[in-house]
Amino acid sequence: MSPTTSSTADTSPPDESIIDASDFDGAEFLADPYPLYRRLRRHHPVYHDRLHNQWHVTRYRDLVEAFRDEGAFGTRPHSYETDGVLGPTMLSLGGAEHAEQRNLVSDALVGRKLDAFTPIVRDVARSLVDGFAGRGRVNLTQEFTSQLPIRVIMTMLGLPMEDFALFQRWYQQFMMGMGWADDTRATALRARAEYEAYMTPFLEARRRNLGEDLTSRLIREGVPDPALKTFVSLLLSGGGETTDKAMGNMWLNVLQEPELVARLEADHGLLDHYFSETMRHSPPVHREDRGATRDVELAGTLIPYGAVVRLWIASGNRDETVFDDPDRFDPFRGDLYSERDLRAGYFRDGLFGHLGFGLGRHFCIGYQLARREAIVGAEELLRVMKSPRLADEQMDTIRARKRGSSIRSVGDLLVEFDPR
Ligand code: HEM
Repeated sequence: MSPTTSSTADTSPPDESIIDASDFDGAEFLADPYPLYRRLRRHHPVYHDRLHNQWHVTRYRDLVEAFRDEGAFGTRPHSYETDGVLGPTMLSLGGAEHAEQRNLVSDALVGRKLDAFTPIVRDVARSLVDGFAGRGRVNLTQEFTSQLPIRVIMTMLGLPMEDFALFQRWYQQFMMGMGWADDTRATALRARAEYEAYMTPFLEARRRNLGEDLTSRLIREGVPDPALKTFVSLLLSGGGETTDKAMGNMWLNVLQEPELVARLEADHGLLDHYFSETMRHSPPVHREDRGATRDVELAGTLIPYGAVVRLWIASGNRDETVFDDPDRFDPFRGDLYSERDLRAGYFRDGLFGHLGFGLGRHFCIGYQLARREAIVGAEELLRVMKSPRLADEQMDTIRARKRGSSIRSVGDLLVEFDPR
């Protein structure tokens, strides 16, 4: 071989089928995970990542199968991350025990019972919006989306609103602590101790003076204090940050396209589609973890008993065999089911639904409340904001806030508008 030939650089493109598992920890993945999801879907739909010893599931239909097969894909891996901070939550339970906990509240968050709470959502949204209506400029995430869900849940539970700042800090510290980093974990456990010390006298007082709020209802049903404390912290964490981030992502998607803003201003009835498409295109929760409770085969790959299985919701939502041009944010796409989200099914009227609220046994209990907050919140914003647009200095995009996080969102969302 001549020296010239031997030194010729290899110009062939890198083989995209070769996955480097350390990419899951890299800056590129943190900033934009979708290219890796696509390569996994295409080449390794069930991928054994030997570095972290996890199995990654990325195609829509396999995710549906795994979420629905709780016999093979159990919820044990939550217990350190979630239960260590919040106490034993329904997220890590199965069978009758899970059903019992879930049934205590699930009906309060849907249907007519939820309708009774809608005026609360509107009142809270209105009071927030009135704070910046005349200003022509707002940090939407700080002044609106991060406030609305916690204030609504606190009102539903009858928690004193003057302590909003405390609850906001606690739930943020709980969320940050649900991982393996020692410092955030320690902060979360301190927050937990403070929260417990606050809740003990609060619950004692409520027991002596029951009202119509959700806490009083749970006390009447005989739920003991430790379970109540865990439950309230689960609602604040599960329903606060997720809904905040979903609203932030929705507004970022919309504000990037003036045409979408104009259509929305002309017809608020489109909000259901805008929300559903956000939950498909940019869901705040990217994955849920499961543990294989036995050897199980998925998409031709054997997943062994005890394996940690990562169900990549956000990847399934961009599966090109299910959604046309999946990377495009298009609330008018004809292939997404945009009606009421479905716990059991994912396919209705020939259309597939997004997976943003999970599926099956642990399907989100707050799915209707979250949608209601996003829609009523948007109606109230549009009541005071004409021609909302991203401020020139808006740089933030949707990304994970910390390594290993499954939550993705825009940080600060700076919006300018003409006051109405
Ligand atoms: C857009 C906002 C929301 C998103 C993206 C979201 C996402 C999810 C997902 C993906 C799950 C499934 C967990 C799993 O399979 O392991 C879940 C479960 C859950 N969510 Fe949500 N959620 C949202 C809003 C809410 C709200 C508003 C509440 C309550 C106020 C709530 C309370 C819960 C609870 C308690 C569970 C556990 C259900 C069970 O284990 O049976 N979520 N959520």
